[in-house]
Amino acid sequence: MQDLERIRDKWDRIYLKKDTTAIPEPCYVLSEFKYLLPSSGRALDVACGLGGNALFLARAGLETTAIDISAEAIKKVAGFKHSLIDARCEAIDLDSVKLYDVIVVSHFLDRSISMAIKDALAPGGLLFYQTFVLDKTDVNCGPGSPAYLLESNELLSLFSGLKVLVYSDLSTVGDASYGQRNQSYLVAQRRE
Ligand SMILES: C[S@@+](CC[C@H](N)C(=O)[O-])C[C@H]1O[C@@H](n2cnc3c(N)ncnc32)[C@H](O)[C@@H]1O
Repeated sequence: MQDLERIRDKWDRIYLKKDTTAIPEPCYVLSEFKYLLPSSGRALDVACGLGGNALFLARAGLETTAIDISAEAIKKVAGFKHSLIDARCEAIDLDSVKLYDVIVVSHFLDRSISMAIKDALAPGGLLFYQTFVLDKTDVNCGPGSPAYLLESNELLSLFSGLKVLVYSDLSTVGDASYGQRNQSYLVAQRRE
């Protein structure tokens, strides 16, 4: 079985088992920094899963493309029947000419597409990125494989060249009962 087929199969099985009746929530960095979003434009939710980010973006008035490799996930997102959401079951392939005013990636890490993500941002466009780190306070949180975990300051290097508006990578410093731990997040802007 090809790699992508194996990934699709794995995620389809996860979503089939999951109770998906609740409305999915957006990731922290998107809801916390919602005030940075433009009032209109085109958004992309990369590896959207059940579509918490996509729904949030559409409700904020953005024409939103939600892409995920899992047909089960996309069935749920299409089920919102939101007129501003275009839900597509496909593997991420950003070699297109389409530019986005907002791109959101949460709980997904494929280092090989970071350049393509930068190129897919329209001038002035915003990237919201949040995912798990190697240096976790809760070892059971997020993936176990280092391949899917961010190194210290890695979001800054993956998206160098963008203007950093917000960045957090608290790791295990200080009193770990405070702050957003286990994940790092970035909001960055493509220069005009
Ligand atoms: C941990 S989930 C995160 C979902 C969502 N972004 C969230 O924060 O809840 C990872 C998602 O990545 C999707 N995925 C994995 N590899 C992919 C690929 N190559 N192209 C598109 N989606 C992919 C999976 O189907 C899964 O829905």
